[in-house]
Amino acid sequence: MSVRQLFVTTALPYANGHFHIGHMMEYIQADIWVRFQRMQGSQVYFVCADDAHGAPIMIAAEKAGKTPQQFVADIAAGRKPYLDGFNIEFDNWHSTDGPENHKLAQDIYKDLRAAGFISTKVIEQFFDPEKNMFLPDRFIKGECPKCGAKDQYGDSCEACGAVYAPTDLKNPYSALSGATPILKSSEHYFFKLSDPRCLEFLKKWTHQAGRLQAEVLNKIKEWFEKDEQGNGGLGDWDISRDAPYFGIEIPDAPGKYFYVWLDAPIGYLAALKNHLDKIGVNYDSYISNPLVEQYHFIGKDITYFHTLFFPAILNFSGRKTPTSIFVHGFITVRGEKMSKSRGTGIDPLKYLSIGMNPEWLRYYLATKLNARNEDIDFNPDDFMARVNSDLVGKFINIASRAGGFITKQFNGSLGDSSGDGIALINQLQSSMPAINQLYEQRDFAKALREIMLLADRVNEYVDQNKPWELAKNESMGHRLHDVCTTCIQCFRILTLMLKPVLPKLAKDVEAFLNIAPLSSNDASALLPSGHKIGEYKHLMQRVDGRFLDELFEAPTEVTASIDPPVGEEIAPQISIEDFSKIDLRIALITDCKSVDGSIKLLQLTLDVGETKPRNVFSGIASVYKPQDLIGKLTVLVANLAPRKMKFGVSEGMVLAASHADEKSHPGIYLLNPSDGAKPGMRIH
Ligand code: 2FM
Ligand code: ZN
Repeated sequence: MSVRQLFVTTALPYANGHFHIGHMMEYIQADIWVRFQRMQGSQVYFVCADDAHGAPIMIAAEKAGKTPQQFVADIAAGRKPYLDGFNIEFDNWHSTDGPENHKLAQDIYKDLRAAGFISTKVIEQFFDPEKNMFLPDRFIKGECPKCGAKDQYGDSCEACGAVYAPTDLKNPYSALSGATPILKSSEHYFFKLSDPRCLEFLKKWTHQAGRLQAEVLNKIKEWFEKDEQGNGGLGDWDISRDAPYFGIEIPDAPGKYFYVWLDAPIGYLAALKNHLDKIGVNYDSYISNPLVEQYHFIGKDITYFHTLFFPAILNFSGRKTPTSIFVHGFITVRGEKMSKSRGTGIDPLKYLSIGMNPEWLRYYLATKLNARNEDIDFNPDDFMARVNSDLVGKFINIASRAGGFITKQFNGSLGDSSGDGIALINQLQSSMPAINQLYEQRDFAKALREIMLLADRVNEYVDQNKPWELAKNESMGHRLHDVCTTCIQCFRILTLMLKPVLPKLAKDVEAFLNIAPLSSNDASALLPSGHKIGEYKHLMQRVDGRFLDELFEAPTEVTASIDPPVGEEIAPQISIEDFSKIDLRIALITDCKSVDGSIKLLQLTLDVGETKPRNVFSGIASVYKPQDLIGKLTVLVANLAPRKMKFGVSEGMVLAASHADEKSHPGIYLLNPSDGAKPGMRIH
């Protein structure tokens, strides 16, 4: 059989932040699969790159006082410790701003245009007259057109849940300059995804056996269909943005750039080309070779781009399309959802810096990863149990139970296995094909369960044969040699099975066993009698609970940050007279209900020492359950003008703390006076 040729990528991370645990999970998943393929003898190119373009990166760079190129380069320079630290071995790390990507994106565009897949249309959009730029939706804020809530984003209202276009906002303002945006029209370029040829092609492409996971395909089917009102279905895709924009220029369209999501997936090809150029392999013949299999590991949130846009633009520009897109779920930490920009709970570099073994994390994540796009949770107790009981308690234990005897009693030399030992070794060897298949299908969780069951068998064998008893009886020396040799032979096969997940540990075992690097077909051969192994030294520590305490401990000092306190400048100075205009009162929450039709609001009934209770709506439903607040004290702005809302009149405002950027730093914290404060007391 000829050698399989694989081109594998992970999603290209935005170059505006460091890696969080979600990135590491994806890279570890792909790295395990790639290592497995290489052990099988496949030839693999495994590449990634920074996703450099787009308005948010351009704006972040400006804020940091850097050119976008410098900003992206600085982020890229920080990638290595994460990748090396967790034994993730990409062949190449590139950037979507590299020359290869500029050329590839422009070539693909020209081919699409020649094939009749590009159209133009004049559209009206908000424009910031101070910054002189069109505003992306998330940089436009204003009052909700439905309920009037202030400071809502351009696409939806967090107070009443309404969804609308940025142009529907009342009193809109630019989140960049504060200026009132004006409507301005400009010509945009579109990829004609609505062309019937696209639907026809994509239906066939997505339904190809083995192309996509069943649950992914189900989702895609919904995207193909129009609803009864004729909405939905595949619409044309706006692929242009106006200058100023950090991106790739559209040929023959001065001042127009490709929208970042057009050039990002093309960046996969650019990263490969950059690598192949360096090693002297012809990119064009490699990428067009029908035998080359092309796989992209991605998170479920970016499925649309990878299963519709990307294959369509490749196909209709006359290029080969991916073999499969492998979609994974999200990682939660202790059940808590993660924010895309900041991550949560676990800082990968802190994990390493406090001395935690990267292979513990690789192993733990692998025990949870399968081929479906389910979310997985990092749970500290579970982490300890899996590593300590299974990895160390079952697997490492085999070597520590047998290694010492081989060293001390047999001068490091292996003997022969007999009867029951040979049967056990055979059992392990004959499990190899099934385990390989599980790896191939990315069902690492099941592969590891099977491997641990085999480790159980080996430990049972040790328990039955009790080498420590055999060692007490000189006449049993031969049997002791036989039993310990069997253990070492089994340990070698189990190491081979675990090697894609635990490359560093496997290397240490190879050194201990004094053998060449293990690859898949080494399972059938055994170490010969008389083979000398090294002295057993403990191969892996157990996880101490104190590591996890430290990992989750909140940082004592604010980590180097160029931002003002939690993202927001201190407001301009005011006088004590100004302050005294605000009448703050202690309020007792006597009742609290959820609000029908609003996911954000709670309705509070407050006692502030007046004859009548106050009715106040507060946007804290994402954090507090109504029953948890009844009976609690809080703080009310008592002289705020009443506000008419969709659900009734709000008579004041309760005080709560939150980060300026609630999207990436979720959490709202209601103020809570100390015990003893009484309803109606004024706060001075
Ligand atoms: O969602 C993201 O983080 C994107 N930067 C992923 C891009 S993947 C590929 F298309 F480049
Ligand atoms: Zn609203």
